Parts: sequence; structure tokens; C-alpha cells
Amino acid sequence: MAVTQKPDGGYNLITLEWFMRTSIQPPMFAISVGHTRYSHECLQDLRYFNLVFPSAGQRELLALAGSKSGRDMDKFLAGEVKHFPGKLKGLPILSEAAACFECEIVTQVKSGDHTIFVGEVKHSWKNDEKELFFYQ
Ligand SMILES: Cc1cc2nc3c(=O)[nH]c(=O)nc-3n(C[C@H](O)[C@H](O)[C@H](O)COP(=O)(O)O)c2cc1C
Repeated sequence: MAVTQKPDGGYNLITLEWFMRTSIQPPMFAISVGHTRYSHECLQDLRYFNLVFPSAGQRELLALAGSKSGRDMDKFLAGEVKHFPGKLKGLPILSEAAACFECEIVTQVKSGDHTIFVGEVKHSWKNDEKELFFYQ
């Protein structure tokens, strides 16, 4: 998942299948976000995202973040997401995630109906009590 900041305040969550590591030094991740997604609007406006690697207990949250739009609802509220502010811009770190990476967007490229946003990792969080979950 990726956390973004809404232009009018608050935060949004999106489930993402399309992401990849793109650099070792500095560490970078790319995410591919559809032009119709509210998250796309958020990323065009505020150039930061937190990449979230979910844990086993977050299956329902993945379904919510991947089926509802932040235009219509506050997914943090609806999903009762436990979180605390990150170090970079204060975007939420999910307490129950296996890992979170705070990224600053350094470049982006249009790819058909998606945009690939490349983010440089500024801070990393790992929760040793949580196991990584693979959505299927
Ligand atoms: C398993 C799964 C994987 C997804 N992967 C992506 C993805 O890589 N990129 C994308 O733009 N949308 C992806 N989606 C769709 C978005 O998560 C979905 O449209 C979401 O409701 C958008 O929320 P937003 O409008 O608040 O940004 C995926 C959905 C699911 C369920």
C-alpha cells in the first residue's frame, strides 16, 4: 500500500500491486498509480508517499484501500488504522505493518493510463513482531 497526503488535509491509503525497487544507493522505490485514482491527485500535489508492506492482520485493510476511493471516504478512519507520524513529513507510519518506507518523489514518468512515481527512501521502519503478508 501507499500512504499519501490529501491536498485538503488528512491522509489516504491505496493498495498497490505494481511497485519495484529501482536503486540500491540511494535506495528508491517506484510505484505505478492509475490516473483515475485519488492517490494520483494527491501525489501530483504533495510529493511524498509512504510505501507500506502489510502484515497478516491487514488483509481487510488491503481490501478496503484497494476498493474504495479516498474521494468518498476517510480510509484511515473506516479501517481504524493505528498509526504514528513519520520523520520525513509526518505522513503516517502504520503501527501494524511489517515495514514502511518514507519516500520523497524524485521523478515520474507517464506510462499509458498510469504514472510511475519514483521515490527516494528517506527513512525506513520495520516491525519485527509482524510477518509480511502477500495478498492473493
Ligand atoms: C490487489 C490490488 C492491487 C492493486 N494494485 C494497483 C496498482 O498497482 N496501481 C493502481 O493504480 N491501483 C491498484 N489497485 C486499485 C486501487 O487500489 C483502487 O482503485 C483504490 O480504490 C484507489 O483508491 P484511491 O482512489 O483512494 O486512490 C489495486 C487494487 C487491488 C485490490
